[in-house]
Amino acid sequence: MTEVDIIAVDPNVYQADDNQYPDDWQSETTSIGSSIYRGLMENGRRYQSLRSDDYLLPVDDPSFETYEAAHLLAIIMDSERDNPLFRAPIGENPTHILDLGTGKGNWAIDVADMFPTATVRGVDLFPPPITWMPPNCVLEVDDAIQPWTWKEPFDLIHLRIMTASWTDGEWDNIYKQCYDNLKPGAWIEQLEALAPIGCDDGSLPKDSILNSWGTTIMGSAERSGRGLDAMLTMTEGIRKAGFVDIHEKKYKWPIGPWPKDKQLKEAGMVNFQHWLSGLEGWCMYLLTKFGAPRPWTKEEVLVYVSSLRKELQNPHYHSYVRSKRVWARKPFPEEVAALKKKAAVEIKREE
Ligand SMILES: C[S@@+](CC[C@H](N)C(=O)[O-])C[C@H]1O[C@@H](n2cnc3c(N)ncnc32)[C@H](O)[C@@H]1O
Repeated sequence: MTEVDIIAVDPNVYQADDNQYPDDWQSETTSIGSSIYRGLMENGRRYQSLRSDDYLLPVDDPSFETYEAAHLLAIIMDSERDNPLFRAPIGENPTHILDLGTGKGNWAIDVADMFPTATVRGVDLFPPPITWMPPNCVLEVDDAIQPWTWKEPFDLIHLRIMTASWTDGEWDNIYKQCYDNLKPGAWIEQLEALAPIGCDDGSLPKDSILNSWGTTIMGSAERSGRGLDAMLTMTEGIRKAGFVDIHEKKYKWPIGPWPKDKQLKEAGMVNFQHWLSGLEGWCMYLLTKFGAPRPWTKEEVLVYVSSLRKELQNPHYHSYVRSKRVWARKPFPEEVAALKKKAAVEIKREE
């Protein structure tokens, strides 16, 4: 027998968070489905594995907790309305509704409950950890950037907190697919928030970490090629795709219980939890890959997040984030020709 080289051992194979050999790698029955569920582990967080491109946010319990808090926050901010879930006037009898990037599916599930005769689809790169949902709600795993295969046109397509999901070109593709897949006269609606912290009374010190966090995280997102600025660009993207009857509603989402107003105080308390559970996930991918002046280490990110959390707990900082909702209508065929002659579509801003 001739000597053969000793096979070198990969020292990483024994690491708990190594993603090359997931714990069921020996199983002969491992399916594609379970590999999608497993995702990819990095820096102690789980990420989606459906798209070959990365998506910045992890898909794990803290992320789903964060989505749930944001859902509740959006509802509280519109709780004086009969329908706090969306503003597009789609009537009483929609038949098909789509939620793009549905996350945990909270919005899709609530809308399915609201319209029991409609089919409400939620689509995401990762299967949501949901054990029960209304029979008219369908949660699907797919990449929204790929050509859509749904047959029935929709009455409403909804997007929420999808910022940094796509490049500018991909956003154009998304809005075009929305336009093409809506019934004439049907609606698109999008709700986005902006990362930088606002403060109207100077209570947030200029030299605080919270004050510079917006620049830090938005710079990293910009370097990643997928900006965190959807709130600033969505109205124009929607208009460019051909939508009309464009409405905007701006909000300030307080962080912490500091507002006097009861509704805003409640929103602030939920938003505080939203930030506590979300911060690490919002920072980890972007800063370890695109942080300045060089990518940060996991430990640097953890220290940064802990400093941000500490500042957030200061009850004297009257901080908030800006958010905006846009809803717009796909024109009827007879409107399209007339629109071509018109210079610009007017935007209606709601108080
Ligand atoms: C910040 S979360 C928001 C979740 C949900 N819209 C909400 O408001 O609760 C963004 C979601 O978009 C999903 N996403 C990102 N890119 C996607 C794509 N190309 N196709 C489908 N979903 C995508 C992510 O997996 C993530 O669950």
